[in-house]
Amino acid sequence: MKISNDTVETVKNGTDIIDLVSSYIKLEKRGRNYVGLCPFHDEKTPSFTVSADKQICHCFGCKKGGNVFQFYMEMENKTFTESVRDLGKPLGMEIAREESNMDDTHMQMIRLHEYLTDLFHHILMHTNEGQEALDYLTERGFSADILRKEKIGLAPDMRDFTKNAVLDKGYSMELAYQAGLVSRNEDHFSYYDRFNGRIMIPIQNHQGYTVGYTARSLDGQEPKYLNTPETPIFQKRQLLYNLSDARKDIRKNDEVILMEGHLDIVKVKMTDISNIIGLMGTALSDENVSTLNRLASNITLMFDGDEAGQSAQMNLGGQLLASGLNVYVITVPKGMDPDEYIEKNGKEAFETLVKNEKKHFIHFKADFLLEESLNNDMAFTSNMNTLAEHLRYVNDAMIKEKLIQHISSRYKVDKRSLEDKVPVSNHQQAPLSTQSTVRQLPLRPRKERYFLCALMKDKDLFKVFQHNINEEVLTTPEYYVIFKGLCTYFDNYTDFDISSFSQYIDGELFSVALEMDSILVNEDITKEEINDYLEDLSGIRYNEKEKQSLYIQLQEAENNNDIELQARLVQQLNELNSEYKR
Ligand code: UTP
Ligand code: MN
Repeated sequence: MKISNDTVETVKNGTDIIDLVSSYIKLEKRGRNYVGLCPFHDEKTPSFTVSADKQICHCFGCKKGGNVFQFYMEMENKTFTESVRDLGKPLGMEIAREESNMDDTHMQMIRLHEYLTDLFHHILMHTNEGQEALDYLTERGFSADILRKEKIGLAPDMRDFTKNAVLDKGYSMELAYQAGLVSRNEDHFSYYDRFNGRIMIPIQNHQGYTVGYTARSLDGQEPKYLNTPETPIFQKRQLLYNLSDARKDIRKNDEVILMEGHLDIVKVKMTDISNIIGLMGTALSDENVSTLNRLASNITLMFDGDEAGQSAQMNLGGQLLASGLNVYVITVPKGMDPDEYIEKNGKEAFETLVKNEKKHFIHFKADFLLEESLNNDMAFTSNMNTLAEHLRYVNDAMIKEKLIQHISSRYKVDKRSLEDKVPVSNHQQAPLSTQSTVRQLPLRPRKERYFLCALMKDKDLFKVFQHNINEEVLTTPEYYVIFKGLCTYFDNYTDFDISSFSQYIDGELFSVALEMDSILVNEDITKEEINDYLEDLSGIRYNEKEKQSLYIQLQEAENNNDIELQARLVQQLNELNSEYKR
């Protein structure tokens, strides 16, 4: 069952954003708005703005914001449904737990995981069956406290323990099978436990619900780690281990530390370092990368000190750097992983290592490739190209300078020739503007933005044109996505209101929507004007093609020294251009 729109609206209207935000951060009145230090990223000058009129908040620095729900969701790391429920409480509204907007089957799978997790945990901590595994974990330095906190458990070495538990609790075998908790023998169509004789490490999704396990064998049985297979609630490309727990500290430090092993992370959670997350496997999906980008601007890799770890680190580092993150590496001594380091050298030594030993990824990679490069000129050339390619993604001029200095001295090359090799970045971040939220854009996106602004201010116009708009008209992906959001929004609302609309788009697009909201559109814009715009926008693609072909002809005419043709082509191009600028 979905929470009704009315309920959402009542809770939203009953919750004042200034009251809510100021219960978390200190706000100061500035003009019509309130400002404070952004709770979502580290900053020294306040750029977090809260508007009482619009009932929204927005950070000019990290671009996060939205209405009361989005603020609360970010701060408390809750789902939308939970936020509506929590904020409804002080208003005397009891929103039933079942009024959840999550798919029912998904919720059942999660409940089943939560039930089994408690059961496995009980077996590990309080039964004879669990004793050997508990001894093993204690021996490895895991305290009872951390085992409780992480709800680590044991799936006993039986064929039908999970199966019976599922049936006892009244869940169907089919559901348990779909959730990856039991396997099925296709010949007899019988079910049996997927996990047996294994230490169960629960894995939570980003909202903090348990959705799967990674399970370590105790007796050397292969594979060492058996994971939940892909299921409707456990999709590796969307998951990062420990994110729901680490989120707050990642924000606070503007840094995320990425590790390989799940037990490494459990062990590190016994130290003061808490902004740590784990990979699900060895690769990062595009979804993972964009999640990481939204969380922090710095990422530190701390992989195992073996060959596999180092080479994974080498690949992922490049991928993360190209996505716009600042990437650093902490090297764990040869042959060790973070867990073993802590066991051997103690927590304090580990905390010191993490605080003090961060090399820029390019620095690390340059050192790593040095030896082979000095003895092998072919490797030298290709490694130099790789390093230069990485350097293009370094936005900070100072560290870029430092890296170039380092490489040129270690590789004994001239600084300038290395600089010349670095491709020009098309990735430069736009400088932050705290004055105005409206970006200067090239002509095409500017027209698209204005067109969409005009439509979003007037539902009647929107409805008239809605079906003529596609990705050819709104070629800028962010505007097209906002348009799609508006389609659903106007099914529920008559007037545009940025605070309500913020629930219909992803957090990343909120600042774009806000910018559009602040653009003034001529109040009496007519259907004819909009139509004009639409024709213009749908025609430009065609114009572009025509221009391309004219340029090619012009090039040929130049090659053939055909002055007359050149003149004619130039005139045609000018006409097309002036049409375009109209
Ligand atoms: P390791 O073999 O280094 O395991 O594999 P580990 O994390 O140090 O485990 P312990 O300390 O022996 O208990 C590194 C990572 O590779 C993945 C796991 O994520 C593991 O943490 N892995 C390894 C698997 O997914 N399956 C396996 O069978 C082995
Ligand atoms: Mn290990």
